Amino acid sequence: MCRLELVGLEKTYGSKKQEKRAVQNLTADFAHGVYGLLGENGAGKTTLMRMIVGILKPTQGQITCDGIPIEQLGGVYRSLLGYLPQDFGYYKEFSAVRFLNYIAALKAIEPDTAKERIEQLLETVGLTEERNKKLKTFSGGMLRRIGIAQALLNEPEILIMDEPTAGLDPRERVRFRNIISALGKDRIVILSTHIVSDIEYIADQIMIMKQGRLIQTGMPTQILEPVAGCVWNCIVSVKTAEELNAAYAVSNLRNYNGNGAISAGTCEEQVELRIVSKEKPHPDAVAVEPVLEDAYLYYYI
Ligand SMILES: Nc1ncnc2c1ncn2[C@@H]1O[C@H](COP(=O)(O)OP(=O)(O)O)[C@@H](O)[C@H]1O
Ligand SMILES: [Mg+2]
Repeated sequence: MCRLELVGLEKTYGSKKQEKRAVQNLTADFAHGVYGLLGENGAGKTTLMRMIVGILKPTQGQITCDGIPIEQLGGVYRSLLGYLPQDFGYYKEFSAVRFLNYIAALKAIEPDTAKERIEQLLETVGLTEERNKKLKTFSGGMLRRIGIAQALLNEPEILIMDEPTAGLDPRERVRFRNIISALGKDRIVILSTHIVSDIEYIADQIMIMKQGRLIQTGMPTQILEPVAGCVWNCIVSVKTAEELNAAYAVSNLRNYNGNGAISAGTCEEQVELRIVSKEKPHPDAVAVEPVLEDAYLYYYI
């Protein structure tokens, strides 16, 4: 198993006049496990991942694998990598099995070994029955699963997946989570997302990125710790809800109808709010246990 280290990593796009610091002074290290890279669009996740896989050269800083700079390792490093890009391209007319054979050839995997692995991987991602169907007939979820399979062909020790859950329906998300949890046992898995719930239960480590910087990192319990006592639930009138919504960070808001009963004379609608705030936002607010979604909001404000 290898260890990946990023030290003072920077990426600046554009010219001096109009430069964009997409990744700024980022230091992190990875041993085996699932790392969830969380951040809104534009936070720098894709840029960071492209540097880790060696497609993009850092403006500054260094990436090492077991202490050796990755550009020195060259092909040896590439053979350790599996990558599912955000804009994963595929050949529509290829069948699942033909596509995987094609990628295996690009990765210079021996045909016999490839054949065996492709069978295993189709099984892992649950596409054995669809093996001969053309990719153009696949759903978004099936394409993602083929994407994961192609990234795993060379049995990578470092698996990088950029927004792998984008476009998946709830059932596919569950299936995806199960596949990933199993993969993190003996390799480094780094996956990015802007959807908190996609990594909540599978990431051993959470890394929150904002405007190119790593603003928080740790195990989910560590990420939640500072947020304890800062999450509130309150049920208020629509008007009060609007005021609170404007004044505080609201992680959830829904119409509230209690147990369905509306007492006589009070037909005013009520709203249930979940607020992230250091102070009690309303006299009727009740402190509740934070979840990762609250923490994400807490660090982002
Ligand atoms: N090739 C590029 N040239 C200039 N700016 C870029 C380029 N790629 C990304 N950016 C900018 O860098 C920032 C980070 O982008 P990106 O890494 O794609 O973030 P994320 O994947 O988190 O959405 C954004 O502001 C984006 O507009
Ligand atoms: Mg991206």
